[in-house]
Amino acid sequence: MNEILDEIIYENRKYLCEGQVASYIPELKNGNKDALGIYITTLEGKEYFGGDYYTKFTIQSISKIITLALAIMDNGIEYVFSKVGMEPTTEAFNSIVDLEMKNLNKPLNPMINAGAIAISSMIKGDTSEEAFSRVLDFVRKLSGNEELDLNYNVYVSEKKTGNRNRSLAYFMKSTGVIENDVEAVLDVYFKQCSIEVTCKDLSKIAAVFANNGVIPWTGERIIEKEVAQIVKTIMVTCGMYDGSGEFAVKIGLPAKSGVGGGILGVSPNKMGIGIVGPSLDKRGNSIGGVEVLKDLSQKLDLSIF
Ligand code: DON
Repeated sequence: MNEILDEIIYENRKYLCEGQVASYIPELKNGNKDALGIYITTLEGKEYFGGDYYTKFTIQSISKIITLALAIMDNGIEYVFSKVGMEPTTEAFNSIVDLEMKNLNKPLNPMINAGAIAISSMIKGDTSEEAFSRVLDFVRKLSGNEELDLNYNVYVSEKKTGNRNRSLAYFMKSTGVIENDVEAVLDVYFKQCSIEVTCKDLSKIAAVFANNGVIPWTGERIIEKEVAQIVKTIMVTCGMYDGSGEFAVKIGLPAKSGVGGGILGVSPNKMGIGIVGPSLDKRGNSIGGVEVLKDLSQKLDLSIF
């Protein structure tokens, strides 16, 4: 299996020069455009890897599936979806236009920035530090990696330059979607996006979702089954943003991308997949990573459809 993975990585390195590392968060310019790697964790406990799987990067938008699960467990399904919708978008992940024009001022879904910031406002905690600490503990448990922490430079860079996110958040405060202090909510969001991981960590987190919320290596249920199902469904419809439709047709797996270059893919009841490839396409998805997942899905017949 490692040979198959190395071969898939080798075949898809050619796409890397067609993309760009994210630069709108200045610190992300330091990402390695040439890196491409994959890690797989099966539900039977086998692990496989290929390419530059040891590359570190920040989790970015992939954190949105984790906070969505936590916010639903904190507040219940009904409350969370009274504030954030479940519908896909044809606009970019940080678009402002849908927020006022569609869905009665509610963000369209929890995967775009507006929806994810609203979700971060629902994470329980007396302070924003406590709310983030609960998110970090949850990510550590899902990945089985107690050493995970935030990349401070990326966090500061994002906090300094995140004015688009700030405007989305203040708009949502004006409409009542966000009820608490806007800067405190943004601090949780910027920190959750700055958690540093490898694709091994992503594959472990994905394996928990593949196993319907039970940690495969301990047998402990950490996410309710219904919540894991909701998160996976929203990954299919919204996880790759305005590229979600094409991704579903070509790859057919619940997945979530991040501008750090990661993709987390879930093969239900089989395996968790983590990919790194910081060179991004124009939608902000890893350009090589999408191709790698496509080849993997075809070779192993993984499409859920
Ligand atoms: O808020 C932002 O713009 C980033 N912290 C996260 C965006 C992101 O990862 C979009 N994903 N492809």
